[in-house]
Parts: sequence; structure tokens; C-alpha cells
Amino acid sequence: MYFVVVAIVYLSIIHNLIVPSGTARSIESPQYTVVYTESDFEVRLYRECSWMSALVQGTTSFENSTKDGFHRLYQYIHGANLNSTKIPMSAPVLTSIINASSSHGLDYYVRIYQSPKYERAAPQPLPELNLQLNKWKSHCIAIRKFSGFAKDDNIDKEVESLRNSLNKYLSSNNMSSNGTTPITVDKNSSYTIAQYNSSRHLTGRLNEVWINVVSGFTAEGCPPYQEEQY
Ligand SMILES: *[C@@H]1O[C@H](CO)[C@@H](O)[C@H](O)[C@H]1NC(C)=O
Ligand SMILES: *[C@@H]1O[C@H](CO)[C@@H](O)[C@H](O)[C@H]1NC(C)=O
Ligand SMILES: *[C@@H]1O[C@H](CO)[C@@H](O)[C@H](O)[C@H]1NC(C)=O
Ligand SMILES: *[C@@H]1O[C@H](CO)[C@@H](O)[C@H](O)[C@H]1NC(C)=O
Ligand SMILES: *[C@@H]1O[C@H](CO)[C@@H](O)[C@H](O)[C@H]1NC(C)=O
Ligand SMILES: *[C@@H]1O[C@H](CO)[C@@H](O)[C@H](O)[C@H]1NC(C)=O
Ligand SMILES: *[C@@H]1O[C@H](CO)[C@@H](O)[C@H](O)[C@H]1NC(C)=O
Repeated sequence: MYFVVVAIVYLSIIHNLIVPSGTARSIESPQYTVVYTESDFEVRLYRECSWMSALVQGTTSFENSTKDGFHRLYQYIHGANLNSTKIPMSAPVLTSIINASSSHGLDYYVRIYQSPKYERAAPQPLPELNLQLNKWKSHCIAIRKFSGFAKDDNIDKEVESLRNSLNKYLSSNNMSSNGTTPITVDKNSSYTIAQYNSSRHLTGRLNEVWINVVSGFTAEGCPPYQEEQY
């Protein structure tokens, strides 16, 4: 019986992740400005924003951890909170992959954006969902877009491409030798995959790799990055 229920919930998750096209205006997303654009990446300055996050450990699979974490977040926004409130879905869904300590493998934080209108009194998740509210200070993120489905077998390539683009930018601008602070990116090889579309959309899908800009792009308006933001 338990498995039947899980399977049904799971199917409905697949069908509800995330945004029906045509309703984009009602979907809330974190606010940003683009401060730098290249052909193959851009740098965005995100405003301070909050994310409801589900930590998943003990797997090496991006897909499995995203399903597990999103399942818990899905329950939360469908009323599994102390107010029994339904919370509108937001976009994108993030999966942050952090190599925080080599002892227990990677930490996966699956996140949904928390509208500022809830910030004061965000409905508390039921404790058994084991969710946490993370507040990000305003900071810059280097972004690479990619299409199709984000999967275990293609995200590494996209992350690598973004790292290469950033390195190329760095060396072609000879940033470390002209007195400008070199760009450094997040410690512990952490990065985030952002997914914007419901899995029922087979084409026209948008995903992104996000890597925090720790320093650099200061002339473009990037503030110093605060470490240890989850
Ligand atoms: C992901 O989950 C599936 C189904 O539970 C399992 O068969 C597979 O081994 C998992 N993959 C990884 C890399 O853990
Ligand atoms: C949730 O309930 C608490 C306590 O009743 C209340 O203070 C808070 O405003 C509610 N939050 C929302 C988003 O409804
Ligand atoms: C990086 O990893 C070390 C341990 O390997 C950990 O103590 C530290 O908190 C991590 N830093 C971040 C930003 O995740
Ligand atoms: C995590 O970092 C440690 C220390 O830098 C490294 O040995 C290990 O291979 C990394 N793990 C993964 C999965 O990247
Ligand atoms: C250093 O390089 C950056 C990036 O190209 C450029 O904007 C800046 O003007 C350079 N500074 C000097 C002193 O050449
Ligand atoms: C960077 O600048 C230094 C000093 O101005 C110069 O010697 C070096 O060749 C430059 N490197 C590249 C890759 O342009
Ligand atoms: C996927 O999401 C992006 C960003 O919200 C949107 O521009 C695009 O139209 C969506 N694709 C489909 C097929 O709905």
C-alpha cells in the first residue's frame, strides 16, 4: 500500500514540475540584473533571496537526489506545513551540489524559491520533511544555459564548459596580472543546476549551470561574496 501511494505521489510530481507555459507571469522567480554577457555565459547579480531547501545525502546521483528533495518540497507547498497553506510553485528548481567534506560524499540541496511575501512568516514545514530556509545575500552568479533534460550523464559536461569559459575569460583578460582581482569561483567545487520546466515539456526546455562568483567582476557591480551560504 505504501508503495502505491508513493508511486502516485511521484507521478504527480513528475507532471507538476513546474511551469505550465502561458502562466509565466504568475510564477515567481528571484530577481536579478545581468551585469556581464559573453557568447557562452553571463554573470547575473541576484538580489537577496530565500530558498526552502531539502538536504539529500548518501547518493551520487543528481537525478535521484533531485527527485528525493523535490518530493519533500512538493509536499511542503501542497500543505505539509504548520499552516496547512498551499504555496504557489516558483521557478527555477535548484539542485546545489557541494563537496563539503570528502568523508560522506556530496551534499545535494534541492531548493525552491521562497516568495518575499512569505519571508516574514514563511509557513513552517512539517518537521519530518526536514527542510530548512536558506537566505542568500545578494551576490553574482556565472550562468551557462543548456536545453533538454538535466541528467546525470550531461550535467558534468555543462559544468566543465562553464568552468572552461570562465578560465578562458580570465586568461584572455590577463586578470591576475593587471591589478584586477582574479575571478575565483566557489570553493569545494560547488555548483547549482537550475531547472525551469515541467518534465512533461519535451522540447523548448531551459536549464542552467550556476557557479558563484567569489571575487571578480567588481567593476560590473559584483559585491564581495559571503562564504558559507547555503
Ligand atoms: C537512482 O535510483 C534508482 C532507483 O531507485 C537506482 O536504481 C539507481 O541505482 C540510483 N542511481 C544512483 C547513481 O544512485
Ligand atoms: C502561519 O501561522 C502562524 C501562526 O498561526 C502565523 O503567525 C503566520 O502568519 C502564518 N503564516 C502564513 C504565511 O499564513
Ligand atoms: C569546504 O569543505 C570543508 C571540508 O572539506 C568544509 O569544512 C567547508 O565548510 C567547506 N566550505 C564550503 C563553502 O562548503
Ligand atoms: C571531494 O573533495 C575531496 C577533497 O578535495 C576529493 O578527494 C573528492 O574526490 C571529492 N569528491 C567528489 C565526489 O568530487
Ligand atoms: C584589467 O583587465 C580588466 C578586464 O579586461 C579591464 O577592465 C581593466 O581595465 C584592466 N586594468 C588595467 C589596469 O589594465
Ligand atoms: C599577462 O601580463 C603579464 C604582465 O603584464 C605578461 O608578462 C604576460 O605575458 C601576460 N599573459 C598573457 C596570457 O597575456
Ligand atoms: C521553459 O521555461 C522557460 C523559462 O521560464 C520558458 O522561457 C520556456 O518557454 C519554457 N519552455 C516550455 C516548453 O514551456
